[in-house]
Amino acid sequence: MEGKTRQWHQYTIYLPAIMKRSNHLYRAYDNQAERMVAIKVSPNLRQGANEARVMRSYRTHPNLPKYYDLIYERNLAHIVMEFVAGVRLNYPKGGPKRSPELAVAISLQILKGLRHLHDKGILHYDIAHHNILINGDDPKTVKIVDFGGSLRKRRHHHWRSNRAGGTVNFRPPEQRWAPTTLYANADLYSVARLCYWLMKRSLPKRDEKIVLDDPVLQRILRKGMANEPDKRFQSAQQFMATLERW
Ligand SMILES: Nc1ncnc2c1ncn2[C@@H]1O[C@H](COP(=O)(O)OP(=O)(O)OP(=O)(O)O)[C@@H](O)[C@H]1O
Ligand SMILES: [Mg+2]
Repeated sequence: MEGKTRQWHQYTIYLPAIMKRSNHLYRAYDNQAERMVAIKVSPNLRQGANEARVMRSYRTHPNLPKYYDLIYERNLAHIVMEFVAGVRLNYPKGGPKRSPELAVAISLQILKGLRHLHDKGILHYDIAHHNILINGDDPKTVKIVDFGGSLRKRRHHHWRSNRAGGTVNFRPPEQRWAPTTLYANADLYSVARLCYWLMKRSLPKRDEKIVLDDPVLQRILRKGMANEPDKRFQSAQQFMATLERW
């Protein structure tokens, strides 16, 4: 199905948009650099500027889309980035439940991306199934997207936010209030929730304990999603090492 196109700067934009939410996402071809790109168009200039700054500062990593450019026009921010082939983890609706092995393999790739982000002083702040892309359900293709709400660190060990953030059911309790102090373990809580969601396609309420057939994995994920931040994994590296031993 070859649809319409539109020329914009050096880009050939394919219509219609692939995503139309608060932000519009277009697939486009960069005729100068000769590569496919994704263009995220945001009416929220502050959010667009924040996203571009975050993407610039993490530089490059296999589990994160490359940043190319930021263009302001007609009161819209346009972020040009690497086009990621693939679909959201929650696509299609009612799709397959993943085996524990696959769920853990996907989670490990997300953690690799987060280890890099956290090392660069960035907290993603909205790890959830709709912000992770995958191609052919192959863990090696996993990429984290959507840094519009991400937080940059100002002081050594923690982040501060003046607004609540994240996705209901995936976010830790401390992201429901603002102002709030956060640690890497906030994103890691969301990874534990997501790993469980991949296997079950549903999530229990925050205060219900998760139940899995595998008692070791159950213990690991319960620790990952402890309500008290101190009881969780404290770094992506630590969470990864534990999942790798499993
Ligand atoms: N670099 C990319 N390449 C291909 N598709 C992308 C890319 N970035 C985002 N998308 C697609 O566009 C969707 C929306 O992007 P993003 O999450 O950044 O925007 P959003 O407005 O926050 O959307 P939502 O509220 O649904 O999370 C993603 O879920 C994904 O399907
Ligand atoms: Mg998003």
